Amino acid sequence: MRRIAVVPGSFDPVTLGHLDVIERAAGLFDEVHVLVVHNPGKTALLPISQRVSLLQRAIADVGLPDTITVASWSMGLLVDYCLEVGASVLIKGIRSQVDVAYETPMAIVNRNLAGVETIFMLPDPANAHVSSSLVRQVAALGGDISPYVPRVVAEYLQKAPV
Ligand code: PNS
Repeated sequence: MRRIAVVPGSFDPVTLGHLDVIERAAGLFDEVHVLVVHNPGKTALLPISQRVSLLQRAIADVGLPDTITVASWSMGLLVDYCLEVGASVLIKGIRSQVDVAYETPMAIVNRNLAGVETIFMLPDPANAHVSSSLVRQVAALGGDISPYVPRVVAEYLQKAPV
């Protein structure tokens, strides 16, 4: 049986911290679906289609395995996507206790809804301070985001400042 995991998130934009988690997940599962989901609690910078495109290009650019696919989901619950593709596991990167507090209720609800388990993964501490919201803020104010994001994202945001 193929072991399939979903790495969900806003990815607005994808950061080096996200890429680290995606790569680690690919080392553990036969298939990894990176899933861009709209988070109504956040003000978006990029349209979903652009986030998907940047993820695909960033993953190809650093040579991550082709067992990784990128998709988006707007048809309902995150666990509905998991059931549709046969994934039994969600993977979330955890940078701090704040992330644990934010993710724990969602993990429990997702397990209650559909039996989908969540695995909390510890990324490289070098990326512990990196977040998409910080990148959005630095980019909006004209700062250098290249230490925090894949090359393709830095180039895209520099060409099309927002
Ligand atoms: O990167 P983010 O913004 O922290 O990702 C949060 C996200 C998109 C994964 C979360 O908002 C989510 O799971 N949304 C899907 C809606 C859903 O299924 N909600 C019910 C169970 S928590």
